[in-house]
Amino acid sequence: MLSRLSSGALKRAGSLSTSRSTQFLSSSRSQAVRFASSSSSSTANAFEAFMNSKATLAGATLFTAGTVAWYTHLYGSFPFLAEVHASHLSDEGLHPPQYPWPHGGLFDAFDHASVRRGYQVYREVCAACHSLDRIAWRNLVGVSHTVDEARAMAEEIEYQDGPDDEGEMFMRPGKLSDYMPAPYPNEEAARAGNAGALPPDLSLIVKARHGACDYIFALLTGYMDAPAGVEIREGMNYNPYFPGGAISMARVLFDGLVEYEDGTPATTSQMAKDVVTFLNWAAEPEHDERKKTGIKAVILFSTLFALSLYVKRFKWGPIKNRKIIYNPPKDSAGH
Ligand code: HEC
Repeated sequence: MLSRLSSGALKRAGSLSTSRSTQFLSSSRSQAVRFASSSSSSTANAFEAFMNSKATLAGATLFTAGTVAWYTHLYGSFPFLAEVHASHLSDEGLHPPQYPWPHGGLFDAFDHASVRRGYQVYREVCAACHSLDRIAWRNLVGVSHTVDEARAMAEEIEYQDGPDDEGEMFMRPGKLSDYMPAPYPNEEAARAGNAGALPPDLSLIVKARHGACDYIFALLTGYMDAPAGVEIREGMNYNPYFPGGAISMARVLFDGLVEYEDGTPATTSQMAKDVVTFLNWAAEPEHDERKKTGIKAVILFSTLFALSLYVKRFKWGPIKNRKIIYNPPKDSAGH
């Protein structure tokens, strides 16, 4: 209890009890009646004086300021404070608009037809330069393709396996458990093939970029001529959404580039939307299941919460509603 009182209140209570104790000095009963905590011993007084002194206040303030100064000197500003930078549009990139993604809402799953079309765009366009290391053929099963389709696609690709009985490595057709083949054997080859720039792996790109789906859609559809006064080096391309404005990847999507099997017109924006939906699935394969589980959890826990509220009130009802009456005994002196 005492710890909840301010030191000022402590002091007032202290002085009150002292005056009271002098008042009742003659009576021996008063000692027993007084609160144990208000007994005014000299250590308590010294502690009180220490807590209330200006020197302690100044010392604590100096200590805190010193700690903050030392911390910021060692590690820079506090992690929970946003940093303020002098910034310029060109080193930021244009912020992408917000697009109404079909899977954006709390109750929305991926558009799986779009994931399937997006895989086609990835395979026919992006896979020439970008790997997709974390996705295996089996991951497509039940999401965008049937088992047979996925197996047939895997078998079209030759994978190295081995060693065999003679210790030789050999090539074999792909299996469902194989991962998507990468276009380049290593980073050096990828850079050499792209004028020094590294096409990043696309498995987690949606999560790895600020703006996620919106950013990648805006990037793919945002290529344009550089505005007057902006110089773009040879081999670079102007894209206002890319931080800095100059990106090594040229525009890759053009109307009619792929032919969708479901007859959807393959416009630039349609392909961009589909490939971004596919890449979002690749980065968050658990997305649909996660939202479904989340809804179940909310329903379950709110029911349990309501139940526990009811049980609590039910159990406490008699205790909270009781009335305690005290009939003091008449003392012998008749007061
Ligand atoms: C001709 C090769 C090539 C193709 C085809 C290609 N890209 Fe790229 N991509 C690159 C290169 C090179 C970079 C690195 C750009 C840089 O860092 O300047 C890149 C970068 C990216 C980035 C990262 C941008 C960033 O913010 O860092 C994304 C996202 C991307 N590509 C998506 C795609 C998608 C989706 C496709 C298919 C529709 C595709 N790319 C097709 C070469 C390619």
